[in-house]
Amino acid sequence: PAEDEARVDEIKHLLKVRNAVLVAHYYTDDAIQHLAEETGGCVADSLEMARFGARHDASTLVVAGVRFMGETAKILSPEKRVLMPTLEATCSLDIGCPADEFSAFCDAHPDRTVVVYANTSAAVKARADWVVTSSIAVDVIEHLHARGEKILWAPDKHLGGYIQHKTGADMLLWDGACIVHDEFKARGIQDLKALYPDAAVLVHPESPASVVEIADAVGSTSQLINTARELPHQRLIVATDRGIFFKMQQAVPEKTLFEAPTAGNGATCKSCAHCPWMAMNALDNLAGALRDTSGEIFVDAELRQRALKPLERMLNFKR
Ligand code: 13P
Ligand code: SF4
Repeated sequence: PAEDEARVDEIKHLLKVRNAVLVAHYYTDDAIQHLAEETGGCVADSLEMARFGARHDASTLVVAGVRFMGETAKILSPEKRVLMPTLEATCSLDIGCPADEFSAFCDAHPDRTVVVYANTSAAVKARADWVVTSSIAVDVIEHLHARGEKILWAPDKHLGGYIQHKTGADMLLWDGACIVHDEFKARGIQDLKALYPDAAVLVHPESPASVVEIADAVGSTSQLINTARELPHQRLIVATDRGIFFKMQQAVPEKTLFEAPTAGNGATCKSCAHCPWMAMNALDNLAGALRDTSGEIFVDAELRQRALKPLERMLNFKR
């Protein structure tokens, strides 16, 4: 539509005026991902978003995603202005892990190394020894396990259970889940596989164990896109937020992609597998943030210092 085109032009202009770069997650709207690509920004998984923002020489980062991604960008680049289309975009994992309760949980288990998922508040990160994203979590825990360390993990119980299974590490798990991935059903995926026996099943590790068990590949959003390219299969059943289809289909234009069902009866649900908070990012509020420098992320200086250490451990970790 014409108004979208006008918004896109305005955003392109404001990105230049503000010396800003757009960093978008794969789950945001196609129009935002397209714009990030077109303007020299990036579309990425949460680890790559953090790396890209920290290295880029723009003075303003516009982070299209959810709150923890903006906070991570600010913690890594305090000298940059970090804007988000909306500060309301949170994450069920972040909500389900309040810093005070989490801190008490850590206090009760002082013998454990605290590893938290990136999908947490700055205050939770500040209490951690390590921060990890899904693309690096197994490698980091494998390393800690080899050193004989026992782990306290938060907040995603499915990702934690998956890592525990892969590494054999002693892990105490917080009871959190992603409301999007928690809805995928093994039964529905199996029904779809019965229709297309030649299809491969690609799963994000925030999904329940029953779904991970029937996967041909498990990985972060970037890893799943790479796997889609590498696998010989022509049909792919994908269990993650449907925002990923924009880049995945670009990566494998000749392949047929299916949304993994979120209902046990095999019916695909057109709206379930989309994060309501990612969906809050739109061209309108993106333009507004740049125009008014609204939606700015601030992190308390002392908190930032504490949250930076476990984040830097992740960024400096070599497999
Ligand atoms: P990735 O690190 O795989 O991009 O995951 C982030 C996320 O929020 C998945 O729900
Ligand atoms: Fe959080 Fe799930 Fe949304 Fe990712 S998809 S931001 S884990 S609620």
